[in-house]
Amino acid sequence: MELLVVCVYNILTEKRDEIKRKLGEGIEIKKILVKSKDKGRKYKVDDSLITLNYEDIINDPEIQIIVELIGGEYPALNYIKEAINNKKNIVTANKLVIAKYAEEIFKLAKKNKVKVYYEGSVGAGIPIIKTLKESMIANKIKKIYGILNGTTNYILTEMIEKHVTFKEALEEAQKLGYAESNPYFDISGWDAAYKIGILSSLAYETFIDVNSLHVEGIEKIEKEDIEISEELGYSIKLLAIAKNINDKTLDIRVHPTFVSQKNPLSKINDVYNVVQIHGDAVGDIMIYGKGAGEMPTASAVVADIMEASKSIKYKIENEQISNGVNGQKLISIEDVENAFYIRLKVNDKPGVFAKIAKVFGDNEVSIASVIQKNRLTPVVPIFLLTHPIREKNLKDAIKSLEKIEDVIEVKNIIRVEDF
Ligand code: HSE
Repeated sequence: MELLVVCVYNILTEKRDEIKRKLGEGIEIKKILVKSKDKGRKYKVDDSLITLNYEDIINDPEIQIIVELIGGEYPALNYIKEAINNKKNIVTANKLVIAKYAEEIFKLAKKNKVKVYYEGSVGAGIPIIKTLKESMIANKIKKIYGILNGTTNYILTEMIEKHVTFKEALEEAQKLGYAESNPYFDISGWDAAYKIGILSSLAYETFIDVNSLHVEGIEKIEKEDIEISEELGYSIKLLAIAKNINDKTLDIRVHPTFVSQKNPLSKINDVYNVVQIHGDAVGDIMIYGKGAGEMPTASAVVADIMEASKSIKYKIENEQISNGVNGQKLISIEDVENAFYIRLKVNDKPGVFAKIAKVFGDNEVSIASVIQKNRLTPVVPIFLLTHPIREKNLKDAIKSLEKIEDVIEVKNIIRVEDF
C-alpha cells in the first residue's frame, strides 16, 4: 500500500475525535482499494476495510466521498469519471489528471451535482488552491511565480550547497520520497507545468491546454552554470511563471531561471515550494511550505475530505475550478521578452569576442556583461548576460553564432527574470 494512503488513513483515524469536534460529525473510512492483498504489510491498517474491487466502492450507496490517490493518468482518470457518474464527490492529489482533464472532469461533476477537490495536487500541503479560489476571489490576478517542484528545488540546492552531481542529488531526492515514481516528470519540468496549469486555470478563469505550454527542465544545468550564477548574484531556480499580459493573452511557462539573490524566491531551498501571487487589490502575497512528501500531501487531502463533508452537510454549491469563460490565448515563447544568460565554449584567440559581439549586434541583442574564465587552455568558457530582448532575436543570434568556427559549442541558455 502506498505510504500516502497510510498517512491519510492515520490522520483520519488518530484525529477522529478532533475531526468530529471541528466538523460537528465524524468521517468514517468504509473501504480502501489496493492492487493486491500482500501478506506481512509494513503498515497497520484495519484489514476488514481492504478491497481489491473498485466496484465495491463506487456501488456502495453509503460512500459519499472517494479519495483518489493512485496518481498517473490511468486508471485514475477512468475511476474518477465513473465515480462522478455514480454521484460521488472526489478528493484527489492527482495533478496530471486535473491539469489535463479539468474541463471534462469539472463539467461532468457539475452535471452530476458533485464536487471535485484537488488541494493536494499543487504544492502538497501548502494551501494554494483555497487561497486562489476563496481568499483572493476579489482580485484580478496579474502574475504568479512559483517554485512548484520539490525534487528539482532539492537537487538544485544540493548542487549549490554540497557541490554534488545532478545524479547524486536526484538519487537522494528519490530516497527521501520526493520524486515521482518516474522522475522524468520532475526533472523535465512537466510536474511544475501541470501545477502552474492548474493555478492558471483557476486564476484566469479559463481552461489551460497544458500541452501547449513552454516547458524546460533542469537536465542541462551544470556546475559551471551554478557557480557563475552565484558569482553574479543570482540563484538558478526552476520557475513556473503565469502572467496576464493584457486580458486576452497569457504568458505561462516553466524553465530554469536566474533569480536575483535579492528576491526572496532565491532563498527558497530544498524540498520547499513557494508561490508568489500578485492580485490587483491585495498586491503581492507569498505562500511557502513543504511541496512534496507524503505527510504534507496527506494534510491537504484530509482538509479536502473535511471540506467535502462540510459541503455535503450544508449543501453548499460552488464552482470548483475555472468556468472557462475567458478563453485567453497563450503568447508564443518567441515573442516573450527576457534577459538571458548564455554559456559558450570558444577558442581563446584574438578577434573571437568581436565576432560574437557583431552577431549579437546584427540581431539587436544588447550585451549587459561578459565574463571569461581560465586562460590555461586553448578552449575556454565564456559567459554572457544580455539586456531584455525578444526571444526570437536571441534564437536568430544563436543560429548565427553556431556558424562561427571559433565558437565550439553553445552550452546553455537560461532566462533571467527580474521581478
Ligand atoms: N514530485 C513532486 C515534487 C511532489 O517533487 O514536487 C508531488 O507533486
